[in-house]
Amino acid sequence: SETSLTGIKPTGEPHLGNFVGAIRPALELTKQYESIYFIADYHALTTIRDPKLLRHYTRSVAATWLAAGLDPSRTVMYRQSDIPEIFELHWALSCVTAKGLMNRAHAYKAARDKNAATGREDLDAGINMGLYNYPVLMAVDILIMESDVVPVGKDQVQHVEYAADIAGSFNHLYGDSYEFKIPKAIVPEADTGRTLPGLDGRKMSKSYDNTIPLFLPEAQLRKLVRRIPTDSTPVEAPKDPDSSAVFQILQQFATQDVITDTRKRLMAGGVGWGELKNQLFEVLNQEITPLRERYHALMEPDSELDALLAEGAQRARERAQRVLRSVRSAIGIDTER
Ligand code: TYM
Repeated sequence: SETSLTGIKPTGEPHLGNFVGAIRPALELTKQYESIYFIADYHALTTIRDPKLLRHYTRSVAATWLAAGLDPSRTVMYRQSDIPEIFELHWALSCVTAKGLMNRAHAYKAARDKNAATGREDLDAGINMGLYNYPVLMAVDILIMESDVVPVGKDQVQHVEYAADIAGSFNHLYGDSYEFKIPKAIVPEADTGRTLPGLDGRKMSKSYDNTIPLFLPEAQLRKLVRRIPTDSTPVEAPKDPDSSAVFQILQQFATQDVITDTRKRLMAGGVGWGELKNQLFEVLNQEITPLRERYHALMEPDSELDALLAEGAQRARERAQRVLRSVRSAIGIDTER
């Protein structure tokens, strides 16, 4: 069967946006695909400079996958850093990647635009080579596991296209000897509906510092839900559900009946934002509570988490080694490992 692969960068506590945009849809694909999940800890190094924090976030992402229902006996889950083959292939693929392609990458361009906007003379100020090379490393993640599909949110689609592009360059040169599979992004249908808004109304994102972490204690979850922005429409007045961040989040967690009913009640007027927020809190808390308990158990230092990661790494390495052996031979590196 075809292979699906996806990764999450351990740069913060997993949040509702990751859950809705990546974790839940990727877990759904387990039914159809041979599924691979990993924690992109070396990718996180472009921004996380505190080793304790990197360790914590890395375990936290792994625990989140498991708490959300990943079945380690039917899927592969590993830490990127446990697969040294990735870094060997990274160099080989860097050498077939056009520098111009990297110049056009969204994240790199955004960082330069920010420098321009703040009047910096050197547009590359504060940009490290990790950020610049980021798309090549991500291409390697995808290609080394011979992935057919890559479920991601909209913001990562360019990266998957780059992976396809880089695979094409390699195949063009060495295809007689070894061909990479050309991967395709899968974006959860109606992604606009699934790009979850955060606490400032913009896309929920660790880099905007506007997230609602998945596994907050109940009281804090309630507090953050209260902070989701709303307009000043009075309680009695009819409201437009689709322009409300609270409703957009509710839509991702409530049952179809509840969504339809709430939509009607908002449009009729008489429901205040405070009431809607209480409803959202209840719905969220009900869905998250069992996951939260599993998560905290897995985060204990002596849980089965580390053994599961080690086992996943072993299975992933076997795959990576197989591909790398073919690649080495195709490019003319005759090291035997
Ligand atoms: P990361 O860690 O930023 O995000 C993980 C996944 O969550 C999705 N996502 C969202 N979806 C909907 N609404 C939101 N508000 C939201 N916020 C995040 C992202 O699109 C992503 O799918 N570069 C990747 C990690 C990575 C990777 C890979 C992914 C490294 N190598 C190989 C797939 C394949 C990243 O930074 O994701």
